[in-house]
Amino acid sequence: MKDTKKTGGLAGIVAGRSAICTVGTGHGLNYRGYDIYDLAQNATFEEVAYLLTKGELPKPKELAQYKQELILARSLPEALKTVLKTLPKNSNPMDIMRTACSTLGCLEQETSDFSNQAEIITRLLGIFPSILLYWHHYHINGKEIDTNSTQDSIGGYFLEKLHGKAPNELWIKAMHVSLILYAEHEFNASTFAARIAASTLSDIYSAITAAIGVLRGPLHGGANEAAMELISEFSSPENATKGIFEKLENKAKIMGFGHRVYVSNDPRNIVIKEWSRKLADDCKNTTIFPISEAIEKVMWDEKKLFPNLDFYSASTYHFMGIPTAYFTPIFIMSRTAGWAAHVVEQRGDNKLIRPNSEYIGPDNRAYVALNER
Ligand SMILES: CC(C)(COP(=O)(O)OP(=O)(O)OC[C@H]1O[C@@H](n2cnc3c(N)ncnc32)[C@H](O)[C@@H]1OP(=O)(O)O)[C@@H](O)C(=O)NCCC(=O)NCCS
Repeated sequence: MKDTKKTGGLAGIVAGRSAICTVGTGHGLNYRGYDIYDLAQNATFEEVAYLLTKGELPKPKELAQYKQELILARSLPEALKTVLKTLPKNSNPMDIMRTACSTLGCLEQETSDFSNQAEIITRLLGIFPSILLYWHHYHINGKEIDTNSTQDSIGGYFLEKLHGKAPNELWIKAMHVSLILYAEHEFNASTFAARIAASTLSDIYSAITAAIGVLRGPLHGGANEAAMELISEFSSPENATKGIFEKLENKAKIMGFGHRVYVSNDPRNIVIKEWSRKLADDCKNTTIFPISEAIEKVMWDEKKLFPNLDFYSASTYHFMGIPTAYFTPIFIMSRTAGWAAHVVEQRGDNKLIRPNSEYIGPDNRAYVALNER
């Protein structure tokens, strides 16, 4: 056997060029040159989705038209409703999203020259909340929801359909901020998967379906759900401090902490933590935020590990009454903008992504006939 040198998960490897986003490389975090703090503070998610997928911030008329297209894109084809009704109630919601994306790829196919890619991107951004909440209401409440809404934003629509009533302005703003922060992050695992699919000249549904599958894991998008489960284990900050010490002693991974690229902090955490604090005050929850801060303190003191975007996103969603199992599906509703931007960019200057591996298996073995093994 050859030496089993660690390949290190491609850490630090520059695997391609992109003009969409910078992550901690001396530029701060920006989307197409716009600072994430400016976007989170001032923009709506729809403006950011437009920026990512079409390259520039929209003018007022362009934004109004885009929002109209996103609203039209919420409708569910009958065949897709049938699939959603058929999929079991105990499915993982991420599997629902993945299957529904793939199903839509059969129903509303991409042309082989990709000339309808822009419409499909808008369609996916519009339809993902409908998919999740149609499935949710059918299986949880035995009710088939329609896609009419008083809300003109993706976040507002999601909350209205989930709770059956219009959300307040604070929650709508929280959703905009969260969706903006989740929208894009350079060559993360799911985006890279989408680019690999695009590099084979496959269709965009296949690229997004692949990305959803990759996002599902707890080391990536699934971390926001795992973080909420962790926080929910504790009843007080003292209890949390003790519990995290024990987990670290047992070499457990604490979900929502650490990052492959960031070294000392995740710039998105500064924003989402403040929203978590704000929503905790709003709903008068006095335990979850202090418990989260207690976990943060132990992680920093003991391991010099900091919360990533997923950690305080968990409590932010929880305070808005969103079930934990829908945290990662919300990530899809946002990151589709980033994934799609990367698919388009990859297609614009394509080269098949196909690296090599270092072979570490046995050499020169003589074939042994079946009946002699
Ligand atoms: C994000 C993550 C996958 C990056 O991983 P990576 O660059 O491959 O780094 P590693 O997992 O090899 O971690 C390096 C060291 O830090 C430790 N570490 C990293 N994240 C940790 C965490 N969240 N909890 C406890 N220890 C952690 C590892 O155990 C490892 O320690 P060791 O060298 O003693 O074995 C990792 O930090 C992690 O698993 N975090 C939790 C999941 C999460 O929040 N994912 C969302 C990312 S945005």
